[in-house]
Amino acid sequence: MSDDRPVPPEPAFSLATPYRDATCGELRAGDAGRTVQLAGWVHRRRDHGQLIFLDLRDRYGITQVVVDAQESPVAHAVANRTRNEFVLEIKGEVARRMAGKENEELLTGEVELRGREVEILSEAQTPPFYINEPDAPVDESLRLRYRYLDIRRRPLLERLLLRSELVRAIRDAHHKAGFVEIETPILLKSTPEGARDFIVPSRLQPGSVYALPQSPQQLKQLLMVAGIDRYFQIARCFRDEDLRGDRQPEFTQLDLEMSFVTEERVMEFVEAMIIEVSRATTPDRPIQEIPFPRFTYEEALERFGSDKPDLRFGMELVDLAPALREGTTGFRVFDETLAAGGRVKAVTAPGMADATRSQIDELTQFARRHGAKGLAHVAVAADGTGHSPIAKFLGEERVAAIVAAAAARPGDLILIVADPSRELVAEVLGRLRGELGLRLGLAEPGVLAYCWVHRFPMYQWDTERGRWDATHNPFSGVVPEDEALLVTASGDPYEPSRQDPAGKARAMQYDVALNGWELGGGSVRIHRRELLERSFALQGYSLEQMHERFGGILEAFDFGAPPHGGIAIGIDRWSALLAYQTNIREVMAFPKTQSGTDLMMQAPSQPDPEQFAELGLRFVGIRPEHVAES
Ligand code: AMO
Ligand code: AMP
Repeated sequence: MSDDRPVPPEPAFSLATPYRDATCGELRAGDAGRTVQLAGWVHRRRDHGQLIFLDLRDRYGITQVVVDAQESPVAHAVANRTRNEFVLEIKGEVARRMAGKENEELLTGEVELRGREVEILSEAQTPPFYINEPDAPVDESLRLRYRYLDIRRRPLLERLLLRSELVRAIRDAHHKAGFVEIETPILLKSTPEGARDFIVPSRLQPGSVYALPQSPQQLKQLLMVAGIDRYFQIARCFRDEDLRGDRQPEFTQLDLEMSFVTEERVMEFVEAMIIEVSRATTPDRPIQEIPFPRFTYEEALERFGSDKPDLRFGMELVDLAPALREGTTGFRVFDETLAAGGRVKAVTAPGMADATRSQIDELTQFARRHGAKGLAHVAVAADGTGHSPIAKFLGEERVAAIVAAAAARPGDLILIVADPSRELVAEVLGRLRGELGLRLGLAEPGVLAYCWVHRFPMYQWDTERGRWDATHNPFSGVVPEDEALLVTASGDPYEPSRQDPAGKARAMQYDVALNGWELGGGSVRIHRRELLERSFALQGYSLEQMHERFGGILEAFDFGAPPHGGIAIGIDRWSALLAYQTNIREVMAFPKTQSGTDLMMQAPSQPDPEQFAELGLRFVGIRPEHVAES
C-alpha cells in the first residue's frame, strides 16, 4: 500500500485522546525510544509464531506493531485473538526498524511499535470485501451496501478528503471576497429547474405539501432584494430526474449571487475563484488556459458540437458545405441535405484511417443512437489521398476537397454527418468528438480545461405544450440589445407561438464547463417585475399561475430590487473531476444507485401506516399490488 501523503499539520485541537497519544500516521525515526499508545483498526495481521505483526490503521496512516511473546506474553496472547478490522488500543515503545526492513511506502515506515499492552476495543466479522487491498475490484452494490467499510479503504477516503478541501477552499475564497454564507430552507415550495419535485406532505396542514428545492434560486434573489449584496451557500438540492453518471437525486451546489453586477463582473469573480480553489485543492493539476476561453453558444455548437466542450483536444468540427457546394455532388444524401438548407459537417479522428469494418460499424451505430441517419467516412492514405465508399458518387476531386477542408493528414479518418437539422449534426458530431478524443487518448488527463459558454438563446419552443421554455433558468435576463424581442408575434403576450421574435432573444446566461462536463451555470437576472411577467407569459404562465407559483418574488420586485446575477456550480461534479472520476457517486459518502436507492439504509422504504394516517394519506392505484392492499 502506498502512503506518500505529506505529514499533515497537527490540528489546533490535538488528535491525542485518552485512547491514543499519536495517530497511526505520525511516528517517525525521531520518535524512537518514546513510549506511545496508538488506537486503530487491524489492517493486516501476520503471525510468525513468537512474533505477531499488526499493521494498525486509522484515517491518518498505518503503523507496524510487533508483539513479541517473550517480551510481552500477555499482550501476545491478546494479539493472537485479533483479526483484521478489530479495533485495538496498543501501548508500546517506538523503535527503529532493523536495517533493511524499512518500508518506504509508509510514512511511518522507518519505525515500528514494540507492543507491550494490547486491548481489544471492538471485534469485527470478516468484512465482505478486502479493505487492505484498495485496488481489488469490488462489486459496486456491495460497496454501497457497506459504504462505511468502503470509506475505510484509501481511495474513497482520499476522495472525501479532497472534497472536504474543495469546500474549505470555496468557503475561504468567498469569505475573502466579502460573501455572506446564508442557509435557505429545505422545506419549501416548488423552485423549478426543469426536473420533478420531491414533495413532503404537511401534518399541520393536511392536504398541503412542501417541495424540496431544486435550487435556492428564488431565495437567493430575495436575499439580493434584502440587500445582502454578496451571498453564497453550499446548498443541498433535490431533483427527481433520471440518474446518470453526473446526476444524483440529491446533490450539492456552490450557489452564489451578487448585486449591482453585470455578466462580466460575475464571470470575473467566478473565474478568479475557480482558479484559486483549483490551485488550493489540486496544486499539481495545470489549468489549460487563463483567462478561460469564452465561446458563444452558437460558436461552441459550430466548433465543438457541444455547449460543454472538452478543450483538452482539438478535433474541431468542419463545415463541408463550401467544399461540396459546386453543382450537385452526385451523392443524394448530401445534395438533398444541402438543398433543404441542412448541414454536412465532419470531424477528423487522427490516426484512425485503418479502422476496420467493424470499428466503422460501431461508430455508425453510435451515431445512429444519437439520431444520425448515417455516418459517411473518408480515410486518408499515406500519400494524402482520400478513400471512401462514397467516392464513387462524389468523384476524386470532391473527396480531395473534403480532405483539404478537414485539414486531415495521412492516416486520419474523416467522419461525416449530413442532416437537415443543424442541432442534430452538432449533437452527433459533438458526441463522436468527445468519445473519440477520450478513446484515442488525446485528452491529457491531468489538465483542467475550464471554459465559458455564454449567450444562450433565452427560450426554445415546446411543441407539445405550445409555449417557450427557458433554455436554462426561468429568471434569466435578456441581453439588453435583445430586450425588444421579448414579445409575441400576435401582440397578445399570453398567446406565444413559434413565430415569436422572442425565439431569437439571447439570455445573459453563462455556463462554465470543465473537461467536457457542465460544471455550473448562471445568469444575470431580470430584476423588473414587468419584464419578468412578460418572460413568464412567453413561458406559458397565465397571470394567475404566475402569481400562484412566483407571487413572492414578483411582489418583492415591487419593493426595490437591485440588478443582480449569480451562478451555481455542482460540487459533486467538481470534486469528481478533480479526483479523476467519471461518476459523482465516487465523491459522495452515501450516494444512491441508478434507481434512487440507498442500499445501506434501504431507502426509500414502506411508509409507517401510522405516519400515513396522521398525514391523511393513502397509496392509491400506483401499482396493482398497492391497489390490492388498500
Ligand atoms: P443548474 O440547474 O444549471 O442551475 O445547476 C447548476 C449546477 O448544478 C449541478 N447539477 C447537478 N449535479 C448533480 N446531480 C444533479 N442532478 C444536478 N443537477 C444540476 C451541475 C449544474 O451545472 N439556479 C441555477 C443556477 C443559477 O442560475 O444561479 C441552477 O440550479 O453542475
Ligand atoms: P446509403 O445510401 O444509405 O447506403 O448510404 C451510403 C453511405 O452514406 C453509408 O456509409 C451511410 O452510412 C452514409 N450515410 C447515409 N446517410 C447519411 C447521412 N445522413 N449523413 C452521413 N452519411 C450518411
